[in-house]
Amino acid sequence: MSAAAATELLRRTFDADPAGVWSAPGRVNLIGEHTDYNEGLCLPIALPQRTFAAVSPRTDDVLRIVSAQSEGVVELALADVGPGHPDGWAAYVAGVPWALRKAGYAVTGLDVAVDGRVPLGAGLSSSAALECAVGAAVSDLCVLDLLGTDHGRRILVSACIDAENSIAEAPTGGMDQSASLLASAGHALLLDCRDSRTEQVPFDLGAHGLALLVMDTRAEHALVDGQYAERRTSCEEAARELGVSSLREVPSDDLDATLAALSNDMLRRRARHVVTEIARVETTVAALRRNDFRAVGELFLTSHASMRDDFEISVPELDTAVEAAVAAGALGARMTGGGFGGSAIALVPTKAADAAQAAVQAAFAERGFHAPHCFVVTASGPADRDQ
Ligand code: GLA
Repeated sequence: MSAAAATELLRRTFDADPAGVWSAPGRVNLIGEHTDYNEGLCLPIALPQRTFAAVSPRTDDVLRIVSAQSEGVVELALADVGPGHPDGWAAYVAGVPWALRKAGYAVTGLDVAVDGRVPLGAGLSSSAALECAVGAAVSDLCVLDLLGTDHGRRILVSACIDAENSIAEAPTGGMDQSASLLASAGHALLLDCRDSRTEQVPFDLGAHGLALLVMDTRAEHALVDGQYAERRTSCEEAARELGVSSLREVPSDDLDATLAALSNDMLRRRARHVVTEIARVETTVAALRRNDFRAVGELFLTSHASMRDDFEISVPELDTAVEAAVAAGALGARMTGGGFGGSAIALVPTKAADAAQAAVQAAFAERGFHAPHCFVVTASGPADRDQ
């Protein structure tokens, strides 16, 4: 449906048919937050919500980019793409051919029309979905053949991360792009960010009478970028003081004794979150493998408390969503993604999903928060060609 909207937008704007349409999903992370840039573990699923890119190759070096979610056309030479240029949403598009060219691939100019159906600003990786849809298109149109193999998809993951870090200048890890390109329907993706190893973990909640509820709090927080970067810097500082290359190297046994060596309590709490969160990913995968969803729910709650109290990235809206969902019968709930707003997830019995959504809506209304958007998701497929 949205492939048609992207096609129509390309036709209307550039007066030509696209060579094809590609799409890529957003993600929610089940557990393992702020662990990716610490060489840790995380466990995302791809969402059914996707971003669509209708694209045509050009014979010159020009990029022309238009979005259904924004006014106007962004036009520039591929040779002029660089840090902060273009800025805003177009950086996530232009950065991908830029990164692939930098990686040594022969990439031409492009006409691109995007239609993003991953909710924007909800912490569901709409930016990674945009990068990965464009990456999939460039791979096919410039005959790079990267979509057909796991190795090729990993090259695209790296290019999309480079686009986000270098051109959009967002110092994020690599979880979102990995989820969007490497996830598999019906599975969660266990990603080890130390060596990029992945494992598909069966995740079919419906077969067990359960559902995953996403609660987009619609809480806006102006400091998101600065706060994220600050957390990353603190983790690097803690690793440096402990004499390890990353917090992944810190054993979880006797943790308080190890962390006592750190110079202040803030660093101790930041490091404690990361080390315990990495251990929780392993425990969660083991619980999923034996269908112990009660244990998974409890791990969600411990993870949320760790992000709220030690990593300090939650906000009242996220805490309220988690508490209201649990009070309405969820087995567990936690904020997901970078924090400071965005979305929380809850593991709910299917028959309690409507009641949980109603309870969250009521709790938000009572506190005078914006009405949240709640919806049930299933683990969906990765970036690919649509038409
Ligand atoms: C954002 C970043 C990811 C990851 C999460 C937190 O989504 O883009 O790389 O760090 O926050 O887990």
